Amino acid sequence: MASTMLSFGLSSPVAILDNSKRIGVGKSVGDLFIKGKMSGRVRMAVSVNVSRFEGVTMAPPDPILGVSEAFKADTNDLKLNLGVGAYRTEELQPYVLNVVQKAEKLMLEKGENKEYLPIEGLAAFNKATAELLLGADNAALQEGRVATVQGLSGTGSLRLAAAFIQRYFPEAKALISSPTWGNHKNIFNDARVPWSEYRYYDPRTVGLDFDGMIADIKAAPDGSFVLLHGCAHNPTGIDPTPEQWEKIADVIQEKNHIPFFDVAYQGFASGSLDEDASSVRTFVAHGMELLVAQSYSKNLGLYAERIGAINVVCSSPDAATRVKSQLKRLARPMYSNPPVHGARIVANVVGNPTLFNEWKEEMELMAGRIKNVRQKLFDSLSQKDKSGKDWSFILKQIGMFSFTGLNKAQSDNMTNKWHVYMTKDGRISLAGLSLSKCEYLADAIIDSFHNVS
Ligand SMILES: Cc1ncc(COP(=O)(O)O)c(C=O)c1O
Repeated sequence: MASTMLSFGLSSPVAILDNSKRIGVGKSVGDLFIKGKMSGRVRMAVSVNVSRFEGVTMAPPDPILGVSEAFKADTNDLKLNLGVGAYRTEELQPYVLNVVQKAEKLMLEKGENKEYLPIEGLAAFNKATAELLLGADNAALQEGRVATVQGLSGTGSLRLAAAFIQRYFPEAKALISSPTWGNHKNIFNDARVPWSEYRYYDPRTVGLDFDGMIADIKAAPDGSFVLLHGCAHNPTGIDPTPEQWEKIADVIQEKNHIPFFDVAYQGFASGSLDEDASSVRTFVAHGMELLVAQSYSKNLGLYAERIGAINVVCSSPDAATRVKSQLKRLARPMYSNPPVHGARIVANVVGNPTLFNEWKEEMELMAGRIKNVRQKLFDSLSQKDKSGKDWSFILKQIGMFSFTGLNKAQSDNMTNKWHVYMTKDGRISLAGLSLSKCEYLADAIIDSFHNVS
């Protein structure tokens, strides 16, 4: 009878094997048994009671996506999910845009294959997305100074850019607004890009702390990457005015910083693709080099298709070529190449004048519905709240979110008492609200604001 002595690095994991029978090897290791012999060597499978992953702690739920989980578990009929930023119809149902359905039908008729895309993505998509962002006649595009790489939606594009910053600017830090979309911090943390915050939100006015923002951008080390929300700032819904953007661009240029735009809501904020890209275009017109991450999750409703792009506007075509080659080099070992379906939808919609016009109309409809509920929520709050509080900040905000100014305890009250699910920073997604639910929401906000400290 052959016997083998084995050690597994766990406490007292010593076993004598008899080549055929299952043998207990002590409490801490579990059961060990021989599966068979292969070319003279013993092949074994180990089933253990003590996991090798004992040291892996439980991760906290995601502050945004975790809200949807809690919402699903709530059985109350009054429940309202204002957590995740996803567009809903007036009946609070998810919406697939008509233009997307039409583009998909055309794609099916063409019978396109599912071959791999190149690392940089679909050429027709990359062209369309850069033109949508900067304007087709933009000098930077015409001079070949823009490196565009298709990314895994906004998040993946931001992450690729963060990896690029870490590799080529290891000394640089990122500046992010306080507050910002929660994932920005995760993205820079995981990419090992140090970051600090610049002032953005003024709780006294529920508006922009413009002076604080400028002062913090000035105080940052020269050559920092300044993350800016192109439009519809998440979570506050507060955007700088065109004059303020000009001033921000001046200060960033003086400091030799590199602007890094996150454009997740182009066309979705104002209803106009051009208007929502005007911040980015202002900076390009200043002759600055900059990065822009784009997403088609919201404006084309392609959330799950993971379609977006990273654009790097450079000062020369040569720099753009080199930057693009390095973005591809970073992408290759991460995910090899991006998915094709969403890219084809965008390219087909933008490349077909009829579909493109229909998209703009649908986008205006979506943005319009959000503006309507914003107005109705303001009206309901103003009528119901007899305290004299000024709720007009809600009307000054833009995009799918409203920052209510409710603190964590008040936000908890919204959820626990009123079944209104929202992020704990007081943000509500108006895209998840219908006109018929505005009064109920106003009651919940007034109660939480006045009765919870
Ligand atoms: C500011 C901001 N950036 C980026 C994203 C990325 O979204 P996605 O990865 O779905 O494109 C979001 C989504 O909510 C966002 O609000």
